Amino acid sequence: MALKFNSILGFLLALVIATVLFHVSAAHGGRREVLAGSWSPIKNITDPEVVEIGKFAVNEHNKEAKTKLEFEKIIKGESQVIAGTNYRLVIAAKDGGEPHQYMAEVWDKPWEKYRNLTSFKDLRCNEEKGEQNCLFA
Ligand SMILES: *[C@@H]1O[C@H](CO)[C@@H](O)[C@H](O)[C@H]1NC(C)=O
Ligand SMILES: *[C@@H]1O[C@H](CO)[C@@H](O)[C@H](O)[C@H]1NC(C)=O
Repeated sequence: MALKFNSILGFLLALVIATVLFHVSAAHGGRREVLAGSWSPIKNITDPEVVEIGKFAVNEHNKEAKTKLEFEKIIKGESQVIAGTNYRLVIAAKDGGEPHQYMAEVWDKPWEKYRNLTSFKDLRCNEEKGEQNCLFA
């Protein structure tokens, strides 16, 4: 009788432990998914780290495309945690003195001292189509 009670208790205990472990790992997996997948808005675009990424993007683009854009400021941005941080920034820069906006993506892995401009696009609207104001919306 005592033996039977013990084995039932043991079974229940194992069941509780298994359930707890399952929930812990499910919660863990869920959180990892969120961390590695989604883009979240950058709250403070004057954060020196964000500004540095923006300047890096403009400088890299100048080197690659032989342009002479002058960084002005970050308009807005998003970041994504994925083996480091992926930044997607809308940047104001001057092109030959004229203000324009650009969309840059930079992958930053500080501990590896790795930082790469993965995309740089001119957001200039097609002025012939009367779209010049959509830049500053
Ligand atoms: C944004 O960051 C800058 C520089 O670190 C700081 O001076 C400023 O107070 C911050 N602004 C907000 C709204 O947190
Ligand atoms: C940086 O990114 C570009 C475009 O994705 C790629 O062609 C290049 O090899 C990367 N450079 C480094 C140092 O990883």
